[in-house]
Amino acid sequence: MDARVKIKCDISYIIKNVFYNAGFKYRDKIYWDKQNLKNLTAWGSYESSSDPNILLPFEEIVILYKQTKKKQKMGTNVNEMIDKEFKEYVNGHWVINGEVRGREMDNCPAPFPQEIPSRLIKLFSYRGDIVLDPFSGNGTTCVVAKKLGRNYIGFELSKKYTDYANRRIGLL
Ligand SMILES: C[S@@+](CC[C@H](N)C(=O)[O-])C[C@H]1O[C@@H](n2cnc3c(N)ncnc32)[C@H](O)[C@@H]1O
Repeated sequence: MDARVKIKCDISYIIKNVFYNAGFKYRDKIYWDKQNLKNLTAWGSYESSSDPNILLPFEEIVILYKQTKKKQKMGTNVNEMIDKEFKEYVNGHWVINGEVRGREMDNCPAPFPQEIPSRLIKLFSYRGDIVLDPFSGNGTTCVVAKKLGRNYIGFELSKKYTDYANRRIGLL
């Protein structure tokens, strides 16, 4: 398909299919409610029924697993989450402001806030585990993984974004 043709697609349906075909199984989902993105103005045909856009300030985080649902022992297996934190994270409605691109973020155009990988890493890994982000962009996941004492790997096509990520992580 011509990459310049922009079409809407149900991205979570596509992602789930790719992963199901690769042998992953469904576990859970979390709805990320980006409170501060409620006033978007990309309405499409404004005040007309001809072609209005539906603006969705929510994103779906799909939790999948391979082989066993229960985590196998790898890292330290020391629990870090306290009662309040754990209860907040397992509630599948996360209200977290979307990341507004600042001037210094002139790299990957769609960063997510550190709170997203932070909660996921704490929920699904232990210190010493390996966290992999296959689309690492500005390296937010790796930055947070390092802070939380996890090992990390990021894949990124763009050298510019990779250099920026490495500077954030402290590798350059
Ligand atoms: C939405 S950005 C990720 C932003 C990241 N979550 C952050 O907060 O910085 C997605 C990234 O995936 C990268 N990408 C797309 N296809 C890729 C591929 N096949 N392999 C590696 N990186 C890829 C893009 O260059 C882009 O930087």
